[in-house]
Amino acid sequence: MGPFYSIAIDGPAAAGKSTVAKRVAAILNFTYIDTGAMYRAFTWAVLQRGLDPKDEKASCSIIPEVKIELFEDGRVLCNGEDVTRPIREPLVSGNVSYIASYKDIRLALVDMQRAMAASKSVVMDGRDIGTYVLPNADVKIYQIASVETRAQRRYDENVAKGIPTSMEDVIEDVKKRDYIDSHRAFAPLRPAEDSVELDTSPLGIEEVVDAILDIIHDKTGLEIPCH
Ligand code: DC
Repeated sequence: MGPFYSIAIDGPAAAGKSTVAKRVAAILNFTYIDTGAMYRAFTWAVLQRGLDPKDEKASCSIIPEVKIELFEDGRVLCNGEDVTRPIREPLVSGNVSYIASYKDIRLALVDMQRAMAASKSVVMDGRDIGTYVLPNADVKIYQIASVETRAQRRYDENVAKGIPTSMEDVIEDVKKRDYIDSHRAFAPLRPAEDSVELDTSPLGIEEVVDAILDIIHDKTGLEIPCH
Protein backbone atom coordinates (compact mmCIF):
# COMPACT_ATOMS: atom_id res chain seq x y z
CA MET A 1 0.00 0.00 0.00
CA GLY A 2 1.57 3.27 -1.11
CA PRO A 3 1.24 6.72 0.41
CA PHE A 4 -2.00 7.10 -1.49
CA TYR A 5 -5.07 4.91 -1.43
CA SER A 6 -7.05 3.90 -4.47
CA ILE A 7 -10.60 2.59 -4.37
CA ALA A 8 -12.01 1.13 -7.61
CA ILE A 9 -15.76 0.96 -8.14
CA ASP A 10 -16.88 -0.83 -11.29
CA GLY A 11 -20.18 -2.14 -12.57
CA PRO A 12 -22.77 -1.81 -15.31
CA ALA A 13 -24.50 1.38 -16.45
CA ALA A 14 -26.64 3.23 -13.91
CA ALA A 15 -25.82 0.92 -10.98
CA GLY A 16 -25.53 4.04 -8.83
CA LYS A 17 -21.74 4.02 -8.85
CA SER A 18 -21.15 7.73 -9.19
CA THR A 19 -23.54 8.83 -6.44
CA VAL A 20 -22.00 6.35 -4.03
CA ALA A 21 -18.40 6.96 -5.13
CA LYS A 22 -18.85 10.71 -4.62
CA ARG A 23 -20.17 10.20 -1.09
CA VAL A 24 -17.42 7.74 -0.16
CA ALA A 25 -14.76 10.11 -1.52
CA ALA A 26 -16.24 13.06 0.43
CA ILE A 27 -16.30 11.08 3.69
CA LEU A 28 -12.71 9.88 3.28
CA ASN A 29 -11.52 13.22 1.89
CA PHE A 30 -10.31 11.47 -1.27
CA THR A 31 -10.68 12.76 -4.82
CA TYR A 32 -13.56 11.33 -6.83
CA ILE A 33 -12.75 10.55 -10.46
CA ASP A 34 -15.64 9.88 -12.83
CA THR A 35 -14.01 8.04 -15.74
CA GLY A 36 -17.36 7.65 -17.53
CA ALA A 37 -17.50 11.45 -17.80
CA MET A 38 -14.23 11.31 -19.76
CA TYR A 39 -15.64 8.86 -22.33
CA ARG A 40 -18.77 11.01 -22.47
CA ALA A 41 -16.76 14.21 -23.05
CA PHE A 42 -14.83 12.53 -25.85
CA THR A 43 -18.12 11.42 -27.41
CA TRP A 44 -19.38 14.99 -27.19
CA ALA A 45 -16.25 16.20 -29.02
CA VAL A 46 -16.78 13.64 -31.81
CA LEU A 47 -20.43 14.68 -32.24
CA GLN A 48 -19.60 18.37 -32.06
CA ARG A 49 -17.23 17.97 -35.00
CA GLY A 50 -19.99 16.30 -37.01
CA LEU A 51 -18.15 12.96 -37.00
CA ASP A 52 -19.88 9.58 -36.73
CA PRO A 53 -19.15 7.87 -33.38
CA LYS A 54 -19.56 4.51 -35.14
CA ASP A 55 -16.57 5.41 -37.34
CA GLU A 56 -13.52 4.30 -35.36
CA LYS A 57 -10.93 5.89 -37.64
CA ALA A 58 -12.64 9.30 -37.71
CA SER A 59 -13.28 9.24 -33.95
CA CYS A 60 -9.68 8.30 -33.13
CA SER A 61 -8.29 10.94 -35.49
CA ILE A 62 -9.19 13.72 -33.03
CA ILE A 63 -7.35 12.19 -30.02
CA PRO A 64 -4.54 14.79 -30.20
CA GLU A 65 -7.06 17.65 -30.27
CA VAL A 66 -9.25 16.63 -27.34
CA LYS A 67 -8.39 18.02 -23.93
CA ILE A 68 -10.60 16.88 -21.05
CA GLU A 69 -10.53 18.38 -17.56
CA LEU A 70 -12.38 17.12 -14.46
CA PHE A 71 -12.87 19.45 -11.51
CA GLU A 72 -13.47 18.63 -7.84
CA ASP A 73 -16.88 20.31 -8.00
CA GLY A 74 -17.99 17.87 -10.74
CA ARG A 75 -17.62 20.21 -13.69
CA VAL A 76 -16.26 18.68 -16.89
CA LEU A 77 -14.53 20.80 -19.52
CA CYS A 78 -13.74 19.67 -23.05
CA ASN A 79 -11.33 21.96 -24.86
CA GLY A 80 -12.24 24.70 -22.40
CA GLU A 81 -15.99 24.38 -22.94
CA ASP A 82 -18.24 23.41 -20.02
CA VAL A 83 -19.87 20.12 -21.11
CA THR A 84 -21.11 19.00 -17.66
CA ARG A 85 -24.72 19.00 -18.78
CA PRO A 86 -24.59 17.98 -22.48
CA ILE A 87 -22.58 14.84 -21.68
CA ARG A 88 -25.60 13.47 -19.73
CA GLU A 89 -28.04 13.97 -22.59
CA PRO A 90 -29.43 11.00 -24.54
CA LEU A 91 -27.44 11.84 -27.70
CA VAL A 92 -24.17 11.32 -25.83
CA SER A 93 -25.46 8.41 -23.68
CA GLY A 94 -26.62 6.61 -26.83
CA ASN A 95 -23.24 6.88 -28.54
CA VAL A 96 -20.69 6.68 -25.74
CA SER A 97 -20.34 2.89 -25.80
CA TYR A 98 -19.02 3.01 -29.38
CA ILE A 99 -16.38 5.54 -28.41
CA ALA A 100 -15.48 3.55 -25.27
CA SER A 101 -14.85 0.45 -27.41
CA TYR A 102 -11.98 2.05 -29.38
CA LYS A 103 -8.63 0.94 -28.05
CA ASP A 104 -6.67 4.07 -28.96
CA ILE A 105 -9.18 6.33 -27.22
CA ARG A 106 -9.14 4.08 -24.15
CA LEU A 107 -5.35 4.11 -24.00
CA ALA A 108 -5.29 7.92 -24.11
CA LEU A 109 -7.91 8.29 -21.37
CA VAL A 110 -6.43 5.51 -19.21
CA ASP A 111 -3.08 7.36 -19.24
CA MET A 112 -4.85 10.40 -17.81
CA GLN A 113 -6.70 8.29 -15.23
CA ARG A 114 -3.52 6.63 -13.99
CA ALA A 115 -1.75 9.99 -13.77
CA MET A 116 -4.60 11.36 -11.63
CA ALA A 117 -4.41 8.41 -9.21
CA ALA A 118 -0.61 8.56 -8.89
CA SER A 119 -0.46 11.71 -6.80
CA LYS A 120 -3.48 11.52 -4.53
CA SER A 121 -5.93 9.16 -2.84
CA VAL A 122 -8.84 8.49 -5.15
CA VAL A 123 -12.18 6.83 -5.50
CA MET A 124 -12.46 6.05 -9.20
CA ASP A 125 -15.58 4.69 -10.84
CA GLY A 126 -15.91 3.07 -14.24
CA ARG A 127 -15.98 -0.32 -15.94
CA ASP A 128 -12.34 -1.44 -16.06
CA ILE A 129 -10.79 0.31 -13.06
CA GLY A 130 -10.13 -2.84 -11.02
CA THR A 131 -9.25 -5.00 -14.01
CA TYR A 132 -7.16 -2.62 -16.09
CA VAL A 133 -6.70 1.00 -14.99
CA LEU A 134 -5.66 0.36 -11.37
CA PRO A 135 -4.98 -3.38 -11.05
CA ASN A 136 -3.27 -2.73 -7.71
CA ALA A 137 -6.14 -0.73 -6.22
CA ASP A 138 -6.37 -1.20 -2.44
CA VAL A 139 -10.07 -2.00 -2.63
CA LYS A 140 -12.16 -3.14 -5.60
CA ILE A 141 -15.94 -3.05 -5.53
CA TYR A 142 -18.15 -4.50 -8.27
CA GLN A 143 -21.51 -2.86 -7.89
CA ILE A 144 -24.50 -4.48 -9.55
CA ALA A 145 -28.28 -3.97 -9.57
CA SER A 146 -31.17 -5.35 -11.60
CA VAL A 147 -31.94 -3.71 -14.98
CA GLU A 148 -35.26 -2.42 -13.58
CA THR A 149 -33.61 -0.81 -10.56
CA ARG A 150 -30.91 0.77 -12.70
CA ALA A 151 -33.37 2.08 -15.28
CA GLN A 152 -35.55 3.56 -12.53
CA ARG A 153 -32.55 5.29 -10.94
CA ARG A 154 -31.35 6.71 -14.26
CA TYR A 155 -34.90 7.85 -15.07
CA ASP A 156 -35.26 9.64 -11.71
CA GLU A 157 -31.83 11.23 -12.19
CA ASN A 158 -32.77 12.56 -15.63
CA VAL A 159 -36.11 13.90 -14.39
CA ALA A 160 -34.33 15.67 -11.51
CA LYS A 161 -31.91 17.25 -13.99
CA GLY A 162 -34.74 18.26 -16.34
CA ILE A 163 -33.46 15.99 -19.12
CA PRO A 164 -36.47 14.71 -21.13
CA THR A 165 -36.58 10.89 -21.12
CA SER A 166 -39.04 8.01 -21.37
CA MET A 167 -38.75 4.88 -19.23
CA GLU A 168 -38.70 2.67 -22.36
CA ASP A 169 -35.76 4.63 -23.79
CA VAL A 170 -33.82 4.39 -20.52
CA ILE A 171 -34.31 0.61 -20.32
CA GLU A 172 -33.22 0.21 -23.94
CA ASP A 173 -30.16 2.42 -23.39
CA VAL A 174 -29.09 0.58 -20.23
CA LYS A 175 -29.42 -2.84 -21.92
CA LYS A 176 -27.64 -1.73 -25.08
CA ARG A 177 -24.73 -0.22 -23.14
CA ASP A 178 -24.38 -3.28 -20.91
CA TYR A 179 -24.12 -5.44 -24.00
CA ILE A 180 -21.57 -3.30 -25.83
CA ASP A 181 -19.53 -2.56 -22.67
CA SER A 182 -19.21 -6.23 -21.73
CA HIS A 183 -18.61 -7.56 -25.24
CA ARG A 184 -15.90 -5.20 -26.46
CA ALA A 185 -12.49 -6.74 -27.17
CA PHE A 186 -10.33 -4.38 -25.13
CA ALA A 187 -10.80 -3.99 -21.34
CA PRO A 188 -14.47 -5.09 -21.27
CA LEU A 189 -16.78 -4.71 -18.30
CA ARG A 190 -16.22 -7.64 -15.94
CA PRO A 191 -15.49 -8.09 -12.24
CA ALA A 192 -11.85 -8.25 -11.18
CA GLU A 193 -10.98 -11.57 -9.53
CA ASP A 194 -10.20 -9.81 -6.27
CA SER A 195 -13.27 -7.56 -6.29
CA VAL A 196 -16.09 -7.62 -3.76
CA GLU A 197 -19.50 -7.88 -5.42
CA LEU A 198 -22.25 -5.72 -3.99
CA ASP A 199 -25.86 -6.07 -5.16
CA THR A 200 -27.41 -2.69 -4.46
CA SER A 201 -30.95 -3.46 -5.73
CA PRO A 202 -32.51 -3.68 -2.27
CA LEU A 203 -30.36 -0.95 -0.71
CA GLY A 204 -30.65 2.82 -0.35
CA ILE A 205 -27.70 5.10 -1.07
CA GLU A 206 -26.58 5.43 2.54
CA GLU A 207 -26.70 1.64 3.03
CA VAL A 208 -24.49 1.13 -0.02
CA VAL A 209 -22.10 3.85 1.18
CA ASP A 210 -21.85 2.23 4.62
CA ALA A 211 -21.31 -1.23 3.11
CA ILE A 212 -18.45 0.11 0.98
CA LEU A 213 -16.89 2.00 3.91
CA ASP A 214 -16.98 -1.24 5.94
CA ILE A 215 -15.20 -3.08 3.13
CA ILE A 216 -12.59 -0.31 2.89
CA HIS A 217 -12.02 -0.45 6.64
CA ASP A 218 -11.67 -4.25 6.59
CA LYS A 219 -9.23 -4.27 3.67
CA THR A 220 -7.06 -1.30 4.57
CA GLY A 221 -7.49 -0.70 8.28
CA LEU A 222 -8.35 2.93 7.49
CA GLU A 223 -10.36 4.61 10.23
CA ILE A 224 -13.62 5.84 8.76
CA PRO A 225 -14.48 9.38 9.87
CA CYS A 226 -17.91 10.00 11.43
CA HIS A 227 -20.45 10.92 8.80
O1 DC B 1 -20.58 5.42 -16.12
P1 DC B 1 -21.15 6.13 -17.35
O2 DC B 1 -22.53 5.68 -17.70
O3 DC B 1 -21.04 7.62 -17.28
O4 DC B 1 -20.19 5.65 -18.54
C1 DC B 1 -20.37 6.06 -19.86
C2 DC B 1 -19.86 5.01 -20.82
O5 DC B 1 -18.43 5.00 -20.81
C3 DC B 1 -20.30 3.59 -20.54
O6 DC B 1 -21.25 3.15 -21.50
C4 DC B 1 -19.07 2.75 -20.66
C5 DC B 1 -17.94 3.69 -20.81
N1 DC B 1 -16.92 3.55 -19.77
C6 DC B 1 -15.91 2.67 -19.99
O7 DC B 1 -15.92 1.96 -20.99
N2 DC B 1 -14.90 2.57 -19.10
C7 DC B 1 -14.88 3.32 -17.99
N3 DC B 1 -13.86 3.22 -17.15
C8 DC B 1 -15.93 4.22 -17.73
C9 DC B 1 -16.97 4.30 -18.64
